[in-house]
Amino acid sequence: MKITVVGTGYVGLVTGTCFAETGNDVVCVDIDINKVNKLSGGQITIYEPGLEKLFERNLKEERLHFTTNLADGVKHGEVIFLALPTPPGEDGSADLSYILRVADEMGKLITDYKVIVDKSTVPVGTAEKVQAAIAQHCKHPFDVVSNPEFLREGVAVDDFMKPDRVVIGTRSERARKVMGDLFAPFVRQGNPILFMDEKSAELTKYAANSFLATKISFMNEIAILCEKLGADVDMVRRGVGSDDRIGKRFLFPGIGYGGSCFPKDVQALVKSSEDADYEFKILTAVMDVNERQKLFLLPKIKAWFNDELKGKHFALWGLAFKPNTDDIREAPALYMIDALLAAGATVTVFDPEAMANVQRVIGDKVTYASSQYECLANADALVIATEWSVFRTPDFEKIGASLKNKLIFDGRNLFDVARMAELGFHYESVGRAAATN
Ligand code: UDX
Repeated sequence: MKITVVGTGYVGLVTGTCFAETGNDVVCVDIDINKVNKLSGGQITIYEPGLEKLFERNLKEERLHFTTNLADGVKHGEVIFLALPTPPGEDGSADLSYILRVADEMGKLITDYKVIVDKSTVPVGTAEKVQAAIAQHCKHPFDVVSNPEFLREGVAVDDFMKPDRVVIGTRSERARKVMGDLFAPFVRQGNPILFMDEKSAELTKYAANSFLATKISFMNEIAILCEKLGADVDMVRRGVGSDDRIGKRFLFPGIGYGGSCFPKDVQALVKSSEDADYEFKILTAVMDVNERQKLFLLPKIKAWFNDELKGKHFALWGLAFKPNTDDIREAPALYMIDALLAAGATVTVFDPEAMANVQRVIGDKVTYASSQYECLANADALVIATEWSVFRTPDFEKIGASLKNKLIFDGRNLFDVARMAELGFHYESVGRAAATN
């Protein structure tokens, strides 16, 4: 099938590449000429495990093309995906100006039947707005479909190739057939394609992400209670998660969720509710809990140092909002760094992928180590903010020898408490008793 993807950000590039990989002829459009030149020249612009190989192969096979020319893109695609940014506006609602501007332009360019697909996470009612923006200028037949993406960064290729479900919002039989054919190769294992109306599809995406964020904030509160009551959140998590109705996933407590989706989507759903004259009480609490959770370790650190962090030096492992990505949007690590610096401490950081992005944002406010062990030199304590695999089984002897004190504050519960006590560390984590040396 001939596919066009407008927007070569994270979602657009994964979508375009994965459709090319299944044999479709894909054109990706972006207004950023530098990006288009890089991509056309074989240089991938995002970090996503497994994507580069597919990208290179499909570029070589000439199933994947990049252009800045929207007219060429519109002419090419039978199905045109809109994967454009929807940043939160000042009031928390999603800013649709990118999408509507492109829809407006597309209306002037369409000359035969097209299926236009909203892939970005957009508030309920956006498909209608896109439909109206195109129809203003377009007399030819077209359908606007909502097809939210559920990709997780770090495993996006797998999520795209083998989705748990594909949600397609359209009431048009013609569009339903086109979309069903396009996605059939991705659900051969038997996972469903769920057809529904546009608004239900749009809301499904927000409801799914908000529910997952709720699970996390809920467990973060349980973790606090565990510490207060002397229970162990690892045990509680397992006990709770073994109930199939609850499920094992997304119950890991920590120093809060971050990233480009959860914070933005929860906030947008709260705003949509307000606009619909409804107060979504649970989600307001989910956001509050997450804000507080980002600094969960700070009182523990302060207590250890008798409230005097001035002149103290910290090693911080993990900057990305989660492992296997270089994305630092809303990363809890950044909040932690700010708080430590504000209290008069200094910080040296290490992350396997996200160092360059952090340097771009906070520059020389911290120092950057070239390895996780170099990071520890002269530090009073180690703080862990992201659960990268390379941090899971470190050389504890080296850690103990490099730090000034055998002291670790772990925001992701990477280590076994009893073992840390045996190794002679003072070790504090989330929702579990401290190991004391
Ligand atoms: C999320 C959704 O999972 C995906 O379906 C949607 O399309 C985009 O948003 P992503 O933002 O890539 O994906 O990350 P995800 O793996 O869902 O993690 C989100 C945040 O929650 C991370 O900061 C992670 O550290 C945190 N998290 C996750 C927890 O704190 N505890 C958990 O148990 C799981």
